[in-house]
Amino acid sequence: METAIQTTAPGKPLVRLSRVNKIYANGTVALKDLDLSVRPGEFVSLLGPSGCGKSTALRIIADLGQHTDGRVDRPGDDGKSTGDIGFVFQEPHLMPWSTVFDNVYLPLKLAGQSRAKAHDAVMSVLAMVGLDAFCNSYPRELSGGMRMRVSIARALVTKPRLLLMDEPFAALDEITRNRLSADLLKIWQASSATIIFVTHSVYESVFLSSRIVVMAARPGRIIGELPIEQPYPRDADYRLTPAYADHCREVSALLSQAMLAG
Ligand SMILES: Nc1ncnc2c1ncn2[C@@H]1O[C@H](COP(=O)(O)OP(=O)(O)OP(=O)(O)O)[C@@H](O)[C@H]1O
Ligand SMILES: [Mg+2]
Repeated sequence: METAIQTTAPGKPLVRLSRVNKIYANGTVALKDLDLSVRPGEFVSLLGPSGCGKSTALRIIADLGQHTDGRVDRPGDDGKSTGDIGFVFQEPHLMPWSTVFDNVYLPLKLAGQSRAKAHDAVMSVLAMVGLDAFCNSYPRELSGGMRMRVSIARALVTKPRLLLMDEPFAALDEITRNRLSADLLKIWQASSATIIFVTHSVYESVFLSSRIVVMAARPGRIIGELPIEQPYPRDADYRLTPAYADHCREVSALLSQAMLAG
């Protein structure tokens, strides 16, 4: 069944940045007047050249970094659970001495949940990323792509409403990357999380996103955005369609503009 994702859904944004500026202590203007609203159910990619402030923006959304001024509204501000944001980094950052199960259990452990109580939640999220059979394995026994899946499962185990991903597939080979991208879309639909995904890749962003926000550097700012109004689920065949090629061309043109503007 095809599901059209609404990029302009009415209602309250899940996260909203209004005129956000970030100036680092050394004077670097990492973000200038950033306005970004993301609505529930969207898959938004932040695309732009190195140094345009993508990670800075993501860290501010996650409350891992302070902004200099402007306003940030995020999940949890409405009084509901504050464990509502999951973060996936470029490197999986797993504990090598712990099993896959224990790596994924960690956020629930830190929240005070017993192993027994967390068992079903951990196993269900491991099944979602296709690794339930590896629950007793150690990270060294897994491939790079499998380690990244563990990292995604760990971010999803608290059932966050918002999942932030900072170039999660950058260190992987192209085949693994494409497979994980397809799986990520399935996980996104199964988990009903909203995703903000940072990438350098035009092809990856067009495959995944319901909307692409393009940024330029010096100072970091948004220079344009494009909705990708193609239905989900999307699979490998989508990469072969004229619509995919057209979107890639449009996004590449906007990215070239961003490089010149920076
Ligand atoms: N801790 C810091 N102190 C000073 N400047 C910083 C710091 N972190 C980032 N910057 C600067 O802020 C700007 C934006 O950096 P950021 O890491 O957000 O970019 P990015 O778009 O994520 O780049 P990349 O694609 O290379 O990951 C850059 O000019 C960078 O040098
Ligand atoms: Mg970055």
